Amino acid sequence: MKRIGVITSGGDAPGTNACVRTIARRGFADGVEVFGIFDSWDGLLKGEVRKLERQDVAGIVQRAGTILRSARSTLFLKQGDAKIAIDALTRQGLEGVVAIGGNGSQTAASLLAQAGFPVVGVPKTIDNDLVGTDFSVGFFTAAEVATQALDNLRATAEAHSRVMIVETMGRDSGWIAVEAGIAGGADLVLIPEHEFTLDAICERLRTRHEVHKRNYSIVIIAEGAMDKDKKLDPRRGTKDLNARPRLGGVGTMLALEIERRLGYNARCTTLGYLQRCAAPIAVDRVLATRLSDFAFDLLLSGKSGLMAALAGRDLEAVPLELVAGKTKLVTDDYFRLAEIFG
Ligand code: F6P
Repeated sequence: MKRIGVITSGGDAPGTNACVRTIARRGFADGVEVFGIFDSWDGLLKGEVRKLERQDVAGIVQRAGTILRSARSTLFLKQGDAKIAIDALTRQGLEGVVAIGGNGSQTAASLLAQAGFPVVGVPKTIDNDLVGTDFSVGFFTAAEVATQALDNLRATAEAHSRVMIVETMGRDSGWIAVEAGIAGGADLVLIPEHEFTLDAICERLRTRHEVHKRNYSIVIIAEGAMDKDKKLDPRRGTKDLNARPRLGGVGTMLALEIERRLGYNARCTTLGYLQRCAAPIAVDRVLATRLSDFAFDLLLSGKSGLMAALAGRDLEAVPLELVAGKTKLVTDDYFRLAEIFG
């Protein structure tokens, strides 16, 4: 293989540029031309493809975002879309592609591989919800942002005797909330995987304030979390242009309920895109480099339909079919830590 493409799609995540840089630099080292596909799959169809030169990837390992830009593309939703993508890739003379992305992107990559085009995936999503890999690029930085928010907000919570709620991203799974909840010692961790009731939450807060005589509490909630009786319904709002529920707001709904039921001052801080745009911390830069280096090797050795993955400290190749369309949920033992030590 002498000419390959690299694409970033879905939500950006800290460490994405480190992935692109790794693929490009392996190309320089191994005599393979690496072409950047800009603006995701929609950009591919418009021919936004350009050979990456050394200066394109110089000094970007520490930068958030993606130099290739990204999008939530609607390609691959319909039957026949893989053929359209393959035609466009072939027109560019590309013999294979490295797809850097989360759930939607790896599903697209799987369809592309099934249709016969060589593709290897690199897991990249702050949500860390990709099946088949212990961790995805971007997650640790997002969890770090959330942990720092908890640490900082504790001061204001204590100063004002408030219940301080921090809302993290995490559409279908609460990895960021659990990780930060453990690290930042949150008093309550609420995630989509674990059912809760407002009565139970309020009782726990009441006990902390009235019995244990604490003047403040720290709560962390993932954007997709919902109580059992659906009083807090994060999917109730508007939809985005791709017809996906526009999340963000469940923490504020919770703050209002706590004030109404307990009479405690409650405020919410929604971290939103600050979790995605932060400069990658070292562990994400290294993970991005290792996974992408491995993905390059897999593709160049003629493998396809695989995602580079982390298993413990080791790298392994996981069939994209096993990854596509699935969500890796927070495990009970991990959530238990947040419950006891948060
Ligand atoms: O990248 C995944 C994610 O962070 C989700 O947790 C969140 O719901 C979503 O992105 C929002 O992204 P956008 O508004 O860019 O579609």
